[in-house]
Amino acid sequence: MRKKVLVTSALPYANGPLHIGHIAGAYLPADIYTRFKRLKGDDVIHICGTDEHGVAITIAAEKAGKSPREIVDYYYEEIKRGFERLGIAFDNFSRTSKEIHHENSQKFFLRVYEKGYIYKKELEQLYCPHCKRFLPDRYVVGTCPYCGYENARGDQCEKCGRWLEPTELINPRCAICGSTPIIKETYHYYFKLSEFSEPLREWLESKTHWKENVRRTALSWIRDGLRDRAITRDLEWGVKVPLPEAEGKVLYVWFDAPIGYISSTMEWAINRGKPDEWKEWWMNPDVQLVHFIGKDNIVFHALIWPAMLMAHGDYILPSDIPANEFMNLMGDKLSTSRGWAIWVNEFLDTFPADYLRYGVAAILPETSDADFNYYDFQTRINSELADNLGNFINRTLAFIKKYLDGRVPDPQNLGDYDTETLEKVKELANEMSNYIEQFEFRKALWKLMEISSLGNRYFDRKAPWSTRKTDIEETKRTLYVCESIVRSLSTFMEPYLPFSAEKVRKMLNLSGKLSWEEAMRPDPEKGRELGKVEILYKKLDDDVIELEVRKLMERAGKKAPEKEEKKEEKGMAEEKEVQIITYEEFSKMDIRIAKILEAEKIEGTDKLLKLKIDLGTEQRTLVAGIAHQYSPEEVVGKYIPVIANLKPRKMRGVTSQGMMLAAVTEDGKIALLHPNQDVPPGTKVS
Ligand code: MF3
Ligand code: ZN
Repeated sequence: MRKKVLVTSALPYANGPLHIGHIAGAYLPADIYTRFKRLKGDDVIHICGTDEHGVAITIAAEKAGKSPREIVDYYYEEIKRGFERLGIAFDNFSRTSKEIHHENSQKFFLRVYEKGYIYKKELEQLYCPHCKRFLPDRYVVGTCPYCGYENARGDQCEKCGRWLEPTELINPRCAICGSTPIIKETYHYYFKLSEFSEPLREWLESKTHWKENVRRTALSWIRDGLRDRAITRDLEWGVKVPLPEAEGKVLYVWFDAPIGYISSTMEWAINRGKPDEWKEWWMNPDVQLVHFIGKDNIVFHALIWPAMLMAHGDYILPSDIPANEFMNLMGDKLSTSRGWAIWVNEFLDTFPADYLRYGVAAILPETSDADFNYYDFQTRINSELADNLGNFINRTLAFIKKYLDGRVPDPQNLGDYDTETLEKVKELANEMSNYIEQFEFRKALWKLMEISSLGNRYFDRKAPWSTRKTDIEETKRTLYVCESIVRSLSTFMEPYLPFSAEKVRKMLNLSGKLSWEEAMRPDPEKGRELGKVEILYKKLDDDVIELEVRKLMERAGKKAPEKEEKKEEKGMAEEKEVQIITYEEFSKMDIRIAKILEAEKIEGTDKLLKLKIDLGTEQRTLVAGIAHQYSPEEVVGKYIPVIANLKPRKMRGVTSQGMMLAAVTEDGKIALLHPNQDVPPGTKVS
């Protein structure tokens, strides 16, 4: 049956341009997921819009000497343009300043109010005597009472992610003028979050398939105790509180923003001429609601918003909240105020959108913070996109153009190696698909690249450039298989590389997009004439990259590393690390080949697998830090080298009796090593 999937991405604040941190946190994974689900035949919509209220906006406006309206109008367009250029394909991209959203939020508020989950309370609030106003949220900074971070904002601590009240801050200061605020009486409307502790806990505990970071963090906050929170503010800008006695109060931005997901769906339905259709999504328990967010939004999406939905009562709860960690830049935390960021629109003036998508998708911060580095980006584009994927597609199509009449070959029959290769593609595509279903987009991308590596190996082994002179039938078989793989790739690429997927479809002269299912089969249209063939990916030259690095450094007031300096540093590091040892010393190591008999994840860790291995003469337990890349099923039965006489070490309660050896790249990617011929377990490596 066709599943209905409602995908949302966190509504970006309309207070600044998009940067790659945004892209890595929510939008790119959400887009990959949406495109993939669509290829799979599911009924999916991707909903978003700009978040245009709250002090993030008013402070930006004050700093720029503009009105909030001017700021949001400008950045709405700017952000929307960035998404479009990057191919983030929303079904609707709305704005929370629209009438439809104000109305919808007010209705939501009233409903929860009438059900008794919102009440009015007098309170003491911080007031800046110098600026003569109350200091909500980001208007005040101070020390976080939970983690001690000194620049916590009045509404949330950036460090530990907790939701705060301004009066909880230690040493509060006015964010605008720096003076110490005084305490003044006012009143606000409170949401009875405390009443939802139990239902939230139960609900979260049932979400065993969720990413651990989301579930665990949310559950620990419940354990710390949930308190009722003020959901109104003394501001001019925002959604007016819909009660006659609440003059001058607006809804807290985090109360209205998530309701924006619903408002944007309503707008989508109206634009389709079916104004009631949003209900088939938000009021339909068969819909899978997936919120893509960055980790700083966890508290709001995994606790507050579900509690709001529970209080309201008519709408579905999220099925999944895949939250990503942060993306750093060249080894340093992103900071828009310090200019330490890569702006999407600027980046796209230099690089094609698919390069950015690939460069970010390959390092998505799924399980821990990631680092975007221009030099790694260059290497990746050149050696993975150009030399692997692009090369396979181009050599295949160019060969057919040149020697096979420019048409999909029509061989009589296929040999074993040919059918095996096609089978293997299917297998890899299935693995890719499973990874995407589990929100493991990096691993899925890796599978995509394995398909084109497989294609390249096949091409090399079959050597059509030589068979063409001796055995044209064999050459046709080879190129038919290669063309079929290219055709499959044009679909499997689509979630990650939509612009180049489109180009490949044109080169193949396909009439439209294929479904994932269709792409699993070899090309049925033998004899179809190919379109014009062009180079898919151009390599990035050093000077292009150097220029970008320099621009970034200059903007942030840092010194660009000199090229020579860089090399020298590296060389020195190498000298330090690489010590000469004698054969004697080497021979102390007992390295042997072991067979992996069993494997399981070590509870509560991201990286560790517990392995049972056969060393020929005995069985042992090993702990290996590979779980972020290899599943237990994948490694069972594999032969690997281990140091058998390493002093046993205890990790997470498990004693590792030896150590597995594997290749580890600088950015931590692991490749298992296997003997290239069959040898019995216990065989010595020397
Ligand atoms: N604007 C918020 C941020 O950038 C995200 C809002 S997500 C929503 O952190 F759920 F409130 F819409
Ligand atoms: Zn002040």
